[in-house]
Amino acid sequence: MMFVARPESLGDSGTVDSFETDPTAESHQSDQTETDQTETDQTETETEIDQTETGTDRTADTDQPARMSDTHPDTHPDTRHGRAGWVALVGGGPGRPDLITVRGLELLRRADVVVVDRLAPRALLDDLRPEVEIVDAGKEPHGHNLTQEEINRLVVDRAGRGLGVVRLKGGDPFVFGRGGEEALACAEARVPWEVVPGVTSAVAVPALAGIPVTHRGITQDVTVVSGHVDPSHPGSTVDWDAVATGAGTVVVLMGVGALARIAAEMIKRGRARSTPTAVIHSRNGGDQQVVTGPLADIASLASDAGIESPSVIVIGDVVALRDKLT
Ligand SMILES: C[S@@+](CC[C@H](N)C(=O)[O-])C[C@H]1O[C@@H](n2cnc3c(N)ncnc32)[C@H](O)[C@@H]1O
Repeated sequence: MMFVARPESLGDSGTVDSFETDPTAESHQSDQTETDQTETDQTETETEIDQTETGTDRTADTDQPARMSDTHPDTHPDTRHGRAGWVALVGGGPGRPDLITVRGLELLRRADVVVVDRLAPRALLDDLRPEVEIVDAGKEPHGHNLTQEEINRLVVDRAGRGLGVVRLKGGDPFVFGRGGEEALACAEARVPWEVVPGVTSAVAVPALAGIPVTHRGITQDVTVVSGHVDPSHPGSTVDWDAVATGAGTVVVLMGVGALARIAAEMIKRGRARSTPTAVIHSRNGGDQQVVTGPLADIASLASDAGIESPSVIVIGDVVALRDKLT
């Protein structure tokens, strides 16, 4: 297993050619092809090679970006047996290694390259084949190892070299995960790609703390918002008035740093001061640290408890169910 994160080697040229190719990954590619051929009779293999050429021509004939339906690794003739590269944007769930989907785990086991985020289920990396290249994309709140553009270029580059790339993320790739940007980069580069949805922390982290985000007789709606931008900041596009005046559950991701301001804004805009609120911290989806209290006091309670990012904030009457469900 090899950790590679060399942002300095990514030039401004729009390619990642300056990344060193991992020769073991290339040799794995050959190994995989050989293995596949032993499982396939010769006639079938020839047919697949023909389909590969047809598929390549079809893509080259159009200026349209690749669509997932054209290029899904399962259905695309080039990729069924690993002869051409692919990218899978895999949601790893809330961090516990047993909460990734079956599909996500399957692709992880097939990957030649894994580009992994901070909140992904990193314990799964221990079970990868030794020749798999692992790139730590970091994504610490204030210390990204790779920029988003570098990640986009990296996954496209590796797939262009005929490798299977899993982009392993926390939660769901399309929930505040920038998975859409990576999908667009693949589509524009005509790289076969797919998204594997994951269990988002917005639902899973409260659930593991004994808080159902909806509950019959308590609330029929749940709103998930980013707390990354302070509610009072002009750059915030969240409709905090609507969020505060509704009666439903509010789940805030990336909000622990702005918790005091979020609570104050919610109260100022109409939510009751006594609204049950929880702040749930966990790094790996287990070992949670949970603080609960009324909305008006939650910031000081969480601060006194030393709660840090990453945490999920839940605001709403469903929080009271935790007393019966833990
Ligand atoms: C950039 S967002 C990514 C969300 C992710 N795509 C998802 O669907 O869960 C990161 C935020 O998700 C939340 N989060 C993710 N994993 C978490 C965990 N294991 N425990 C607590 N919060 C978590 C935190 O609010 C964190 O700041």
